[in-house]
Amino acid sequence: MRVLVTGGAGFIGSFLTERLVEMGFDVVVIDNLSSGDLGRLGNVIDRIRFVKDDLKSPSNPDVFRDVDTVFHLAANPEVRVSVTEPRVHFDENVLATFNVLELVRKYGVKTVVYASSSTVYGDAKIIPTPEDHPIQPISVYGAAKAAGEVMCGTYVRLYGINCVILRYANIVGPRLRHGVIYDLLMKLRKNSSELEVLGDGTQEKSYLYITDTINATLMAWEHAVKNGVGVYTYNVGNQDSISVRDIVGIVIRASGFNPRIIYKPATPDGRGWPGDVKRMLLSIDRIIREVGWRPGMSSREAIELTARSLIKELGVSND
Ligand SMILES: NC(=O)c1ccc[n+]([C@@H]2O[C@H](COP(=O)([O-])OP(=O)(O)OC[C@H]3O[C@@H](n4cnc5c(N)ncnc54)[C@H](O)[C@@H]3O)[C@@H](O)[C@H]2O)c1
Repeated sequence: MRVLVTGGAGFIGSFLTERLVEMGFDVVVIDNLSSGDLGRLGNVIDRIRFVKDDLKSPSNPDVFRDVDTVFHLAANPEVRVSVTEPRVHFDENVLATFNVLELVRKYGVKTVVYASSSTVYGDAKIIPTPEDHPIQPISVYGAAKAAGEVMCGTYVRLYGINCVILRYANIVGPRLRHGVIYDLLMKLRKNSSELEVLGDGTQEKSYLYITDTINATLMAWEHAVKNGVGVYTYNVGNQDSISVRDIVGIVIRASGFNPRIIYKPATPDGRGWPGDVKRMLLSIDRIIREVGWRPGMSSREAIELTARSLIKELGVSND
């Protein structure tokens, strides 16, 4: 069976591609390499078809021919950028998703797995937040993800495509090149005596390790294929959360440095930037109940493992 991974040279996409190859699928990857890196696909590059293309204006639509499932992960994941450059996020996240859905329709692709985000909820009133909570994003990134979800749902009802919407929490692991752990380590690499932290450190969020994420993604996909056409929306996160202050402690200990820490809140209530969700913990009851997936590692374990991996990859350590 042929499957297509958009954004397959990215962090999550590269791990997903590896797993799909291991499982024996014929895998095609589309990526424009804007934040992607072919090095991430080094283990499987000679066993996949890689197509460099920009989904904002696809020039290679034929790649969708004979594809059974599209895992749509290509996006600009920088929430902060979306606040200052909304159009970039509209183009890379809304327009690109629409183009993918159009090609899915045109080539009769049966299933789409769409990488959405916990940011669609904005400042949730209920925590842990269930899937039926109102969608009230506070960043253009979150709004773009929500727009993609609505579009996917409409394609299900109108064209009979099957769709899995995965609202990922913060995903971490080796090869990660954005988010708080990466940001802290890059700053330490530049200046190990001082560390500026975005926000007042009390932001509290849930983190999920990459292998848990790939398991959830594949299990939710298999569940949807087995159960027939519909919109399958699942939160994919951990059952616990961790504060930025604790993450800073873990990263510093792992690096062996002893910097002066400066917290820099961007808003009166201590956010890292306007549009930063201060508290995020998703209810994962639905995916546990319907799909049978559970995380194998806590937020803290995921952060510790990721910090150690990235320190090696980025060459940051003091030892
Ligand atoms: N990492 C997280 O914590 C997280 C959390 C929630 C949701 N997500 C979503 O999961 C998906 C994957 O995230 P990631 O962390 O692996 O990000 P990433 O930046 O590592 O990967 C995204 C990939 O998409 C590619 N891409 C971007 N725009 C493209 C375009 N127009 N055409 C073709 N390719 C394009 C990039 O080159 C990159 O390889 C994204 O949709 C992201 O929004 C990620």
